[in-house]
Order: sequence, then structure tokens, then C-alpha cells
Amino acid sequence: MSYPKEMQAAIKKVAATRKSRMNETYPMLSPEEKQELLNNYHPDYRDDAFRQVQVGANKGESLPHEVVDIIEARSRIEPADFSLTADKEVDVLVIGGGGGGCSAALVAAEKGAEVLQVTKLRLGDANTMMAQGGIQIADKENDSPAIHYLDVMGGGGFVNKPELVKALVMDAPKVGKWLEDLGYMFDKDEEGRMVTRHGGGTSRKRMHSARDYSGAEIMRTLRDEVQNRGIEYIEFLPAVELLLDEQERCQGAILYDLETEEYMVVRARTVILATGGFGRIHVSGFPTTNHYGATADGLVMAYRAGANLLFMDSTQFHPTGAAFPEQIVGLLITEKVRGLGAQLVNNKGEQFVYPLETRDAEASAIIRECEGRNLGITTPTGMTGVWLDSPMIDEIHGPGTLQKELPAMYRQFDRFDIDITKDPMLIFPTLHYQNGGVEIDQRGETAIENLFIAGETSGGLHGKNRLMGNSLLDVLVFGRRAGKAATERAREVSFGDSLSLKHVESFHQQLAAKGVETERVSPMLLPDYSNSNIS
Ligand code: SIN
Repeated sequence: MSYPKEMQAAIKKVAATRKSRMNETYPMLSPEEKQELLNNYHPDYRDDAFRQVQVGANKGESLPHEVVDIIEARSRIEPADFSLTADKEVDVLVIGGGGGGCSAALVAAEKGAEVLQVTKLRLGDANTMMAQGGIQIADKENDSPAIHYLDVMGGGGFVNKPELVKALVMDAPKVGKWLEDLGYMFDKDEEGRMVTRHGGGTSRKRMHSARDYSGAEIMRTLRDEVQNRGIEYIEFLPAVELLLDEQERCQGAILYDLETEEYMVVRARTVILATGGFGRIHVSGFPTTNHYGATADGLVMAYRAGANLLFMDSTQFHPTGAAFPEQIVGLLITEKVRGLGAQLVNNKGEQFVYPLETRDAEASAIIRECEGRNLGITTPTGMTGVWLDSPMIDEIHGPGTLQKELPAMYRQFDRFDIDITKDPMLIFPTLHYQNGGVEIDQRGETAIENLFIAGETSGGLHGKNRLMGNSLLDVLVFGRRAGKAATERAREVSFGDSLSLKHVESFHQQLAAKGVETERVSPMLLPDYSNSNIS
């Protein structure tokens, strides 16, 4: 399947204006223009997409309906009927098999903890695996953690928790070295220097990559390490509820075996949640770049146990999700395409936005072009999008660059007989990242004693908009920090008190008291597409 006839006239306009656009720098938005664009077109600003939370620590806040749906749902566990006899006791229970979970497990084991890592799907089935463009590390002469810090704060709207941002940028060079020592194959030039590129909202070329499978290469490295070091891990075993002790400190979790449908009670001195984000709840009906298990399980469990959520009113829509062909709608088209110089172009062949605005602004400009100005391109099945002019990459950097830098993307389209070195890609924003999450401190600890969080489940670090490449960095930095802190804490924790599910009972009572009558059960564990046209 190449582009159908009805789309080819629009493609000709992109080609016709390419030469003149090559020398055209589209002006960046002023802060006022950016805010106006967000107000008018960003899905976070649609009042009808939100409702007030009735129960729990964020009571009274307005959050997206889909988020309220999962946090105001009943537990899978009926506390009165459930026996809390532990099937297993460990020092540190790591819940999650992505970059955050594996980093945490590796460090905890290195520091002497007895670790059990459990994961809902297979080890490595996570958003880390799917990240394409790169990881931000300030390690070049013209850069510094201080400059990185300013970029992260600016990208997040200056509401980020500063101490978390400081931890992120200061640990970044160490984490880069750790990865490389473990065998990560960073892109390097002929002299062996790291190749770095721009991402949206970065003031320096700081994006390190492994072609366009940067996350898969991280997952390969970490998964090998977990397996080679003999860390115990169990697959297809998601957590469905946290366990507290009589003093409301976290002390393990109830796990659910997806194959046998049996529950397992694990008592742990400390717990690290690294279950990722909420892409698969499809906020505002958007498709998603996220892996199949991204159903915000950790967020739900921590909230029910009493944790506070930050910035859950803010969702990241990646500007460039595939809009054609139908089979890949919503899948990620990495920001690296724009980092390499490709422009966004409307149905007249015109640029309409600076290509590397922060993602919130870039996505809003695309939505404006399609929905506000009617200058998008419509596919035969009725999707509308704008062009991402990928053939510019070889024009700018020389023939062969695109296939070298973006081999996975090239293949993804080649399967459909679309040659992205010759023709542009049709794109539209897609749900990519949970900007907010459970509040943590610099060690990754939540307000619930002995409960730590790493990665997308947490909130505060990225403020209201994460920059590209700071998610891979986040999972490694806070995975390692949580692994260390949870191990140190585990040494002080004894298994004295009995295990308790009083928090679940109390949450159910609060739901009833507020008249929230629902059949919904959470964590969802897996998305249900039986009555849906989104995937
Ligand atoms: C991308 O490559 O555009 C996604 C990576 C990220 O979200 O950091």
C-alpha cells in the first residue's frame, strides 16, 4: 500500500515547496502566543474533558474523566474475604519490568537486598522498550547540568519540583556512564565522540541515542543484566493492591497470576512501584504510543493507599503520531525526525510552526492547523493530519542519513510501500506520556512510608510537560535512586505488625459515602477494546 491517489496531490505540494522551505526558519512562539495556543487547542484545556475527584488525597481537583474513572473504582480484592497469609517474604519487592523496575532491581541487589521483581507481561514489555529518539545527558563542553535544569523547568512550565529536577540532571552523566559500562551502544562519530541532537525545548544538542531504538537498547542492556545476575523475577504477575501494616507503612503487595488466576501475597520490607503510565486509558479518546500494559496500575494502588497525585490534570500528546496508514495510527514517529531537520507542513505545502517547540505547543499547533484552520490532509478513512517532511533529512545531511539514523522508522513505513526518504509522513498528536503522578522525594519515596516509585508512575519531576529524552533518563535516575533508598530502608524494617487492607475497606466506604456507585474495577491491568474504535 503506497499513498492513495487522493493524497498524492497534497504530497506534490510538499515536494514543490521543499527547496524554498529549506532556507526558511519558522519563528518560535513568544510565551504569550504559546499560552494562547494551549488555551485554545491543547486537550488539557477542554473543560468538558474533566470532572471533580470525590475521594482520596486529591479530592476536589478536576482531572480527566478517564483518570477519575480509574481512581474512583473498586478494588479487585474484597478485604473481608481475603486471607493475608504471606506466600513469600523479601527485602525489596520491585513491581514493574521496564527501565525503572530493572534499574531499581539491579541497584537493590547490588546493595545486598533480597529482591523479587514482578511484571505484568514479560520482562521488558514496557514503554522504555518503545522509546525511540534518545536520552538527555549534559556531557558536552557547551552544556552543563545547570543548563539542562533550566530547560527541564522551562519545558514543564516552571512548576516542576526543583529538587527532583536537580537530582535528574546531576545524575545524568553518571547514569550515562553506568549504561555504557553495562554495554549500551551509544551513537558515536568517527572519533568516538557521542553524537548528540536537539529535542523540542532544548537549548543544547543533548540527545544521545542508539539510532531510533534508544529505548530498546536500554531494555536489552538492563534485561540482560537482571537475568545474568540471577535476580529473581516473575512474569505475568501484576500487582493488584498494596499491603500496609497497622501503622499504614507499606509492607508488600497482592499479586495476581494472569495465567492461573490465583493471588499471591508478598510481604516486603520495602516496595518499589515502577508500573509506568496511563497511555492505554486513552485520555480524551486519543490513540496512544504506549505499550499494551500502560494502564496506570501503580497510580491506582498508591492513590487507594493514601498517596497524593501531582499534575494529573496534564497529559502529554506527542505531536507526531502516525495518521496513515490506518494499521499504525497513533504509533510514535520520533521527535528525532524533527531533530534532524524535518518540518511540519499543511495542505498548502506551508510550514506553520517551528518544528522544535515544546511538545504541548507543537501538538496544539497541529490540532489548530487541522481543526481550527482546516488546513489538514484527510485520509480515505477520515483521519486528518499534517505532513512531516522526512525527505528533507537526506537533503540536509546527505543521502543515506535517514536510513542510517532512523532505520526502525524507515522499515515501519516500508512495510506499507511508503518510502519516507521520498515521501513525507502524515501525522497527528497521540497520547504519549503521563506528565503527572504520585508525589515523591529525591530518593523516590512517597508519603506512604517504605513505598518508593520510579519513572512515569511518579509526578512532579516534569511539571506539566516533559521534554523528549527525559523519560529514559528519569527511569534510570529514579530507578537507581529508589533501588538504593529502598535497600537502605529495608535494613531498618522488621516484619512485626500484621498486614492490613484497611485502606481498601476505607476507600470503598468513602466511595459509598460520596455516592460513587460503580461497577468499575481497577487496576484495569489490560485495556478493554471490545466496544471501542481506538487501539
Ligand atoms: C521520541 O523519540 O520522540 C519519544 C521519546 C521521548 O518521549 O522521550
